[in-house]
Amino acid sequence: MPLIDLEKTLARMKERQWALADFDWDKPGADKIRPEQFAKLKAFMADLTWIEHVGARGFAAMAKKAPNDTLREIYTYFHAEEQRHANAELALMKRWGMLEEGEVPEPNINLRLVIEWLDRYSDDMPLEVLGSVIPVLEITLDGALCKFLLEEVEDPLCHEVFKRINEDESRHLGVDFHVLEMLGHGKAYQIALKFLGTWASPKLYLGVLSYFPLLNRMRDNIVAFGLNEDKLNECIGKFERFGGQTPEGRRNPWYHLMRFHARLVVDKDSFYHPPINALVKASNYIPKKWLGDFPTWVNKITWRPTA
Ligand SMILES: [Fe+2]
Ligand SMILES: [Fe+2]
Repeated sequence: MPLIDLEKTLARMKERQWALADFDWDKPGADKIRPEQFAKLKAFMADLTWIEHVGARGFAAMAKKAPNDTLREIYTYFHAEEQRHANAELALMKRWGMLEEGEVPEPNINLRLVIEWLDRYSDDMPLEVLGSVIPVLEITLDGALCKFLLEEVEDPLCHEVFKRINEDESRHLGVDFHVLEMLGHGKAYQIALKFLGTWASPKLYLGVLSYFPLLNRMRDNIVAFGLNEDKLNECIGKFERFGGQTPEGRRNPWYHLMRFHARLVVDKDSFYHPPINALVKASNYIPKKWLGDFPTWVNKITWRPTA
């Protein structure tokens, strides 16, 4: 993807802000959820809500590392937008009768581990780490999960809400790939040295250990919900094309690593899966008390149409 004009993107974002109160949450169509969809859709939406929060926390960390003021402001908006997406998705769950008064769905254990890692260590990571992981996740979310949801759900309000969410996401993707390419600018040996230097941090390995099982669990969940695995392949293909379009983009070693890893994740016959699936199973046995309390930023979760 070519570099974009960040100033214009920021101005457009400011114009296009929206709120939960912009929608009529009581409009007809809530009963369009078929009984056989209910349980799986509830699990899917709960995961989606928490992925938005992971994204929000990631952008908060990126804002602190941003190399210029415009990018910092953009990431601060992205942080708020991802929280808004999570709240809008919760509001849809509430509308469909999936949540009791005041109830917030529990994240699965792998999401908890990633949240925990983000909260403890993401601020210590260089921009390259999150700046390379986030485009893969967002392109999959945007290109596969959200589209799939809209194919499955007939509630017109869900379509209205996701129209706004998807508009935000297309700006996120523009900036994500802009930054991915930016990370490949500069002298090749310096980029390579920095890349290697980052791998000296044990915190990064803890991140990998929480991130890999999360992806496997999520992939199994969404395939169980009925998502065609080819859609995931298409998303990875897009990541390869957009991220590797320019020589600078291809010079970013994180791009190659993410591409390689994403291919492993979507290839179900790969050697990668048995050990990672074992980690998913093992993580089911982690006692909740080891994880302590939820970080305070999680308290911003609400389906109430105020934000
Ligand atoms: Fe989002
Ligand atoms: Fe996003």
